[in-house]
Amino acid sequence: MIDYNIIEKEELDSTNRYLEDLAKEGAPVGTVVWAHRQSAGRGRLGRSFQSTEGGIYISFLLPSPMQSQIGFSFTAMAAVAVKRTISTVCNKECAIKWVNDIIYNGKKVCGILAQGVLDKAVLGIGINYTTPMEAFSEELRDIVTSLYTKTKDEQTIPPMRAFVEELCKNIYTLCASSIDESALKEYKSSSTILGKTVNIIKAGQIVGFGVATEIDDECHLHVLDENNKKIVLSTGEVSIRIK
Ligand code: BTN
Repeated sequence: MIDYNIIEKEELDSTNRYLEDLAKEGAPVGTVVWAHRQSAGRGRLGRSFQSTEGGIYISFLLPSPMQSQIGFSFTAMAAVAVKRTISTVCNKECAIKWVNDIIYNGKKVCGILAQGVLDKAVLGIGINYTTPMEAFSEELRDIVTSLYTKTKDEQTIPPMRAFVEELCKNIYTLCASSIDESALKEYKSSSTILGKTVNIIKAGQIVGFGVATEIDDECHLHVLDENNKKIVLSTGEVSIRIK
């Protein structure tokens, strides 16, 4: 495991943006930025990420996945790291929606965004820990959830610091060197979409649909379309919605 050093801030525009700047100034792999709020949180596909009090917004400086043997499945390994942390610290079980959304009680509880900077990678994770539902815009309330409700679970909520420390350990174990076979197995077996009919979405448009049949060792998703033709999807610009 790589040694890490956590920089904690009350509020930043984006922990990914802040860590990118630190990386350009020479910060080493192992630098972690954790904020309690973000004013301009970044999401996948150019979206924004709502980041109010109650969430954990955290970015990790990692070796470029191209320089390790993790390659494409880098963010998939991060998803397993989050899933394991939630299981160990919160005693709650989550699933993974390809490619790297974490699902709790059928709703999204965490998003992951990796960005390259020089010869390194910034891996950003946003977790709805005790975020109240009122903090989310109306269109998100049906599809997102939090791990805890502050008022209801007050006695049992593990300290955020304990969660963050465990997450750092898991990230710097799973995302730093070669692919971890047991994590890959766990990634595949935690999938919410295998066997389901899914829409394939590019740039906000549905461009096809089919049955999700397999996640391969590179974490590509195989979808069988209505003509029984196999489509192999890698991450990038594609997202998937269960029909
Ligand atoms: C997504 O689901 O679209 C990915 C969301 C990633 C959000 C995290 S929060 C910490 C880090 N800083 C950012 O600006 N974004 C990531």
